Amino acid sequence: MATRGIVFDAYGTLLDVHSAMARHAQRIGPNWEAISAAWRAKQLEYSWIRSLTGPAHHRDFAELTDAALDFVARKFDLHDDALIVDLRAAYRTLDAYPEVPNMLRSLRSKGIPTAILSNGSPAMLASAVKAGGLELLLDEVISVEEAGIFKPDPRVYDLAIRRLGGDASKLVFVSSNAWDAFGAHANGFRVVWCNRTAQPDEYGLRAHAAEYGDLSTLSEAFS
Ligand code: LAC
Repeated sequence: MATRGIVFDAYGTLLDVHSAMARHAQRIGPNWEAISAAWRAKQLEYSWIRSLTGPAHHRDFAELTDAALDFVARKFDLHDDALIVDLRAAYRTLDAYPEVPNMLRSLRSKGIPTAILSNGSPAMLASAVKAGGLELLLDEVISVEEAGIFKPDPRVYDLAIRRLGGDASKLVFVSSNAWDAFGAHANGFRVVWCNRTAQPDEYGLRAHAAEYGDLSTLSEAFS
């Protein structure tokens, strides 16, 4: 398959959002995976509510991530202030999924342009990309902050389309988040759904997207 470029979602697709709580699992307790899932769900809920309530209510993803953590800390009785500080910091230096650096290297060796398009604020993306060892492997890191609204608003996908040549049908969008993959499809991209946790189909995505369990063989599809 030929492509003008491949656009990746960041959180959940290239970066393991659960690696922050995994690092501090002993301090959180046996329920840490459920708490981490609740943190992620609340972070995304805040992004959608802030988008729908209008520009005056926009806050960047770093602020929403911290607010979501504060909420789950209260909900799940995590009263250790030092732990909250450490979790906030850990989210700025998440682990990349293990196959990601080699996959990006392989795309680079084929001369295929790559970009991140993410809800993340520019500072948190820069920090996470560096921590994940990805900073020299990506051509562009695009934050939704340039549009001032979150995915799946069309203005966000437009940022990447314009940056990579103006024709979404010649671009591939890769996301582990079904709702984000659907957003990219709705905006004209060819789509790869990286279904890391073997979720059932949503949004009729399987009819429109190539599905992978992880990204280790992604580059083989492109020449
Ligand atoms: C992002 C969120 C959707 O990186 O994970 O944009």
